Amino acid sequence: MLLRLKPGLPLPLPLLLLLGPLGVLYSRAQAGPARTEDAVELDFSTERPVHLVSPAFLSFTIDANLATDPRFLTFLGSAKLRTLARGLSPAYLRFGGTKTDFLIFDPKKEPSFEERIYWQSQSKQDICTSGFIPSDVEKRLQLEWPFQEQLLLREQYQKKFKNSTYSRSSVDILYTFANCSGLNLIFGLNALLRTADLQWNSSNAQLLLDYCSSKSYNISWELGNEPNSFQKKAGIFIDGLQLGEDFIELHKLLGKSAFKKAKLYGPDVGQPRVKIVKMLKSFLKAGGEVIDSVTWHHYYLNGRIATKEDFLNPDVLDTFILSVQKVFQVVEETRPHKKVWLGETSSAYGGGAPSLSNTFAAGFMIIGSLFCSRNWWAPMY
Ligand SMILES: *[C@@H]1O[C@H](CO)[C@@H](O)[C@H](O)[C@H]1NC(C)=O
Ligand SMILES: *[C@@H]1O[C@H](CO)[C@@H](O)[C@H](O)[C@H]1NC(C)=O
Ligand SMILES: *[C@@H]1O[C@H](CO)[C@@H](O)[C@H](O)[C@H]1NC(C)=O
Ligand SMILES: *[C@@H]1O[C@H](CO)[C@@H](O)[C@H](O)[C@H]1NC(C)=O
Repeated sequence: MLLRLKPGLPLPLPLLLLLGPLGVLYSRAQAGPARTEDAVELDFSTERPVHLVSPAFLSFTIDANLATDPRFLTFLGSAKLRTLARGLSPAYLRFGGTKTDFLIFDPKKEPSFEERIYWQSQSKQDICTSGFIPSDVEKRLQLEWPFQEQLLLREQYQKKFKNSTYSRSSVDILYTFANCSGLNLIFGLNALLRTADLQWNSSNAQLLLDYCSSKSYNISWELGNEPNSFQKKAGIFIDGLQLGEDFIELHKLLGKSAFKKAKLYGPDVGQPRVKIVKMLKSFLKAGGEVIDSVTWHHYYLNGRIATKEDFLNPDVLDTFILSVQKVFQVVEETRPHKKVWLGETSSAYGGGAPSLSNTFAAGFMIIGSLFCSRNWWAPMY
């Protein structure tokens, strides 16, 4: 296949990801004589696959901080958003991020005004075909969103997180979005709820499990987000051994509930620097048996200081390979053959690098994550 790409014509990202062995193309284009004209001819061989990935390879996360103010969850009722999300199905929808460990389920909490409107507009026959909020309410929320976004970013920069509660209605809106978009929901439980002797206090998770079983929801679970930085985020140090025991506790709860067959993923640690490798090792020794996939997170850059040159720097792009190799080595040593998933990734952390993470320039990093990874089959979200 001959593909003509005009520089300056941005491809939508999902399309880029579907393009196939661009890595091969890239080296061929390099080897050929340099051209001065605008159009670049790409030789695109589709005869046989280079690697096969899981159909759910390209999955994604909705940041749990969307539940901080439940009014904004009603965005998930948007028919347009659901149609776009359906395009990614089959995929996992992970609800997670830093806020995971600051969210507390309150089954008695009443839905917000916007959520009540959302439910009123749902048709009784088919929850998926109708059910979006009236356009005036949506417009008002859209106007208010930039302020909410600033507030959330400020929390992140200052590393001062407040607890928020979420209601049954919020869980329902999230699950409905996943279900109506053909996505499998992975829900991150709060791992910072602790007893006096620093064991995980599972009572809030139990309330949520009870509610979700009463609704026959099919959900997979995680426990905690980047537990390696709990000290920084909440002044509590949890080591890998304790976290492993907490996962065993969660696995027991699931076994006693309607979620006997539900999947459990973790520990969602950051990239494998020395301390994190230590944590991951002791976690896997203590609790590795009860998880279905080992998850870790990868970001190339700090969004606040990253430049365009960083985004295009091959040395920066190559850092991913070393991290992948390290994680695989640890897993092979402690829990051989356990699946490894890239549980969260993007170009730059801290909300992304403005005018870079959301542009073509970030495409190289996403492609890098796809093609430098040895675990071709592993979902990424
Ligand atoms: C959040 O709530 C838990 C449980 O009540 C408490 O232990 C923790 O200190 C609270 N965290 C913050 C930041 O208020
Ligand atoms: C959505 O819900 C329906 C009915 O409960 C169920 O048959 C279907 O498997 C669900 N889909 C997903 C993706 O969970
Ligand atoms: C766990 O948390 C619940 C709710 O905050 C509390 O009532 C209970 O006493 C806690 N259990 C332990 C063992 O700390
Ligand atoms: C529940 O979801 C998992 C994927 O997370 C899927 O494999 C399984 O078939 C689903 N079960 C039911 C009963 O829909």
